[in-house]
Amino acid sequence: MPTWSRRTRARCAARSILGAAAFAVAILDAHGAAPGAPTYAEVAPIFNSRCTLCHSGAAAPNGVQLDSYERVIKGGKNGPVVIPGTPGASELVKRIRGERLPRMPLTGPPYLGDAEIALVEAWIQAGAPQGGEAPAPAQPARAPPAPGTPVTYAHVEPILARCVKCHVESGGLRGPPPEGYVLRTYEQTLAAGERVRVVPGNPAASALLRRVKGLERPRMPFDGPPWLGDAEIALIERWIIDGARDRDGKPAPVPAGAQVRLRGTLTAPREIDGVPFSPEGARTERGLRTGASAELRGVVQPDGTIRATRVRPR
Ligand code: HEC
Ligand code: HEC
Repeated sequence: MPTWSRRTRARCAARSILGAAAFAVAILDAHGAAPGAPTYAEVAPIFNSRCTLCHSGAAAPNGVQLDSYERVIKGGKNGPVVIPGTPGASELVKRIRGERLPRMPLTGPPYLGDAEIALVEAWIQAGAPQGGEAPAPAQPARAPPAPGTPVTYAHVEPILARCVKCHVESGGLRGPPPEGYVLRTYEQTLAAGERVRVVPGNPAASALLRRVKGLERPRMPFDGPPWLGDAEIALIERWIIDGARDRDGKPAPVPAGAQVRLRGTLTAPREIDGVPFSPEGARTERGLRTGASAELRGVVQPDGTIRATRVRPR
């Protein structure tokens, strides 16, 4: 038996389609939807594959969780994002069409295809009916893996999703990616570019970890606090120690020859926040006392350690 509210929604939809409320109840199918109209079961795979990475759980942007029918209909702290029967007034539609910025999914381009946008609109137009059993979103692996099992990108991806609103090619909240660093995919997170921010096997030399720990300023995420939780930071650290593996568990190659830039505190005469470096052959400047702020530029060695090329006070 459809619930009262679902039936009302479906009836409104049928009325807008047929212009005849009297027929509406008669033509509802077993799930309370007008026949032929798309149901939540058909649009859920779009949300699951493109939206729930960010829009699920307690930290969902603006409280908008898109991982179940009830939560999609409920909306977030700014109110509903789906207005059954009126796609044009629905915030969700405005966002996927780019009529309201930032356009969704925030990881785009690519954004949703025309057919996907049309399906979402037709579903809302039909009164946003629930339909049959919807596929559940693939749960990102949030819990740390069992001891002895390596951490992979699949475990840290949901954490790094919080960084993508700024560290995205374009259309992010703040224009071009900060420092040219894009964190949308595994490849981009590890890319060398001007310098590497993740040195597989060497967490202390990985700017990404140093930034989320606050060893390097400004601390990330830039819009914090809140910062990442201790468990999240520990998971990122383990991921780097375990070789910054991809989703399939394959460790990343050491980016030998790539540049690094580390900013922090000299914790010993030849150590910056725990990263030992050899000043031999490096240009070092005066004023480098233990406890001083310093910047190290160096090159990743084939064994993953860092050879300093320049150390200066900062
Ligand atoms: C990488 C993370 C990310 C992904 C993926 C993503 N979003 Fe968002 N979304 C955000 C952020 C961050 C905001 C808040 C932006 C702002 O302040 O307007 C947001 C805001 C929204 C809003 C506005 C909510 C409100 O009430 O203010 C809607 C609607 C929305 N997203 C829908 C979607 C849909 C639909 C998808 C998938 C097609 C999607 N988002 C994918 C991060 C994401
Ligand atoms: C609100 C926008 C924003 C968010 C969210 C954000 N960042 Fe940043 N990020 C910045 C800005 C701005 C800079 C440049 C800061 C500077 O060094 O002056 C930056 C710099 C960095 C750098 C230094 C890159 C380099 O090579 O110099 C790293 C690493 C980084 N961010 C990682 C992250 C991670 C990891 C997250 C998520 C946990 C994150 N950021 C979230 C805005 C953001």
